[in-house]
Amino acid sequence: MKILITGGLGFIGSAVIRRLIDTTNDEILNLDAQTYAASPEAVAEVASCNRYHFEKVDITDQAAVAEQFGSFVPDAVMHLAAESHVDRSIDGPGEFIQTNIIGTFNLLQAARSHLDAHPELAESFRFHHVSTDEVFGALGHNDAPFGPSTAYSPRSPYSASKAASDHLVRAWGETFGLPIVLSNCSNNYGEFQFPEKLIPLTIIRALQGESLPVYGTGENIRDWLLVDDHARALIEVMKRGSLSETYLIGGDSERTNLAVVETICDLLDERTGLLASGPRRSLITFVTDRPGHDLRYAVDASGTKEELGWTPSVSFEQGLADTIDWYLNNQEWWQQILEQRYSTTRLGTESTT
Ligand code: NAD
Ligand code: DAU
Repeated sequence: MKILITGGLGFIGSAVIRRLIDTTNDEILNLDAQTYAASPEAVAEVASCNRYHFEKVDITDQAAVAEQFGSFVPDAVMHLAAESHVDRSIDGPGEFIQTNIIGTFNLLQAARSHLDAHPELAESFRFHHVSTDEVFGALGHNDAPFGPSTAYSPRSPYSASKAASDHLVRAWGETFGLPIVLSNCSNNYGEFQFPEKLIPLTIIRALQGESLPVYGTGENIRDWLLVDDHARALIEVMKRGSLSETYLIGGDSERTNLAVVETICDLLDERTGLLASGPRRSLITFVTDRPGHDLRYAVDASGTKEELGWTPSVSFEQGLADTIDWYLNNQEWWQQILEQRYSTTRLGTESTT
């Protein structure tokens, strides 16, 4: 099977590619613009495989996207390319509109033209749009988790742009008959996650004995899933998901942000010893809250589990311990990022364009 993947140098896309190359005979074309969030290192282990191809393509460039469909002739698309960080969407929403909305539009149009040119693919082709649970908005403490019929209520520029892209994908399915499938997942963590996100940022700053910023009171709740488990679910959705369905994916691992940061502190103390100043928990610093900070996310993934037989493989505590070990063993990767493009400073407090 020939699969066109967008955003395959990112955190989740690279995990999908590593898994597809390792466990299938599929041929992959990875289209990625190589923004600040891209890590070629994350696909280094598959880069020399003759079933892996890479093209530096910005999905906002309609002609470039169309050209890649024409030359690769994919059997399926897995669309992961996005601006993905909520804090950056507060500082500068423009790129989120361009990549997440216009970029998705370009891919949908290219997929339509592709099927016009190759009607023999119409039955088997899939356009898999990879999305987020943030499109559903914020839950209260006693609300039921997000489910397949939860109404959309995005509250950040990031989640609004992802919601818009979800709507475009469904509209192209209904109006133009494009064979689509969607998935909405909760917070991922694991290897190669860019250090702007809570878990890698906390690990790296705690290792260096720096203050650990917790937004607001730290009582906000996220549902955490190991990235490899998400990658496994995405491949199931793409290969076996029903036409026009939406699959919710989550980790059944709701934790407050404060609990996550405290656990990272304790695991690092165990592994590397206390700092001269004492336990790392003393580095925790409550800072001004994120504007529009969603209180709680939680996902009911039971439908996905029943239909696709997928389930998370590890507990959050085990996955977090493994992730910490990975960051300890791969300091070159993140040190290079800190030196070249992001120094773990606070983002998302400004209101500019
Ligand atoms: P990421 O920021 O780590 O990677 C995004 C990748 O997309 C990067 O390699 C980047 O270079 C590429 N990209 C960005 N703009 C592009 C453009 N205009 N053209 C081509 N490539 C471009 O993101 P991620 O965390 O891997 O997320 C991947 C997808 O999964 C996103 O669609 C995101 O909304 C969704 N998602 C993420 C999470 C999470 O917890 N990280 C959870 C649920 C869903
Ligand atoms: O729910 C899925 C979403 O999860 C994905 O769609 C997004 O792409 C992904 O970035 C993630 O969004 P969050 O905003 O939940 O992730 P982030 O790691 O930025 O923040 C997690 C929580 O931690 C959130 O409540 C904000 C808080 N936080 C974050 C940072 C970076 C802090 O308290 N301190 C921090 O320094």
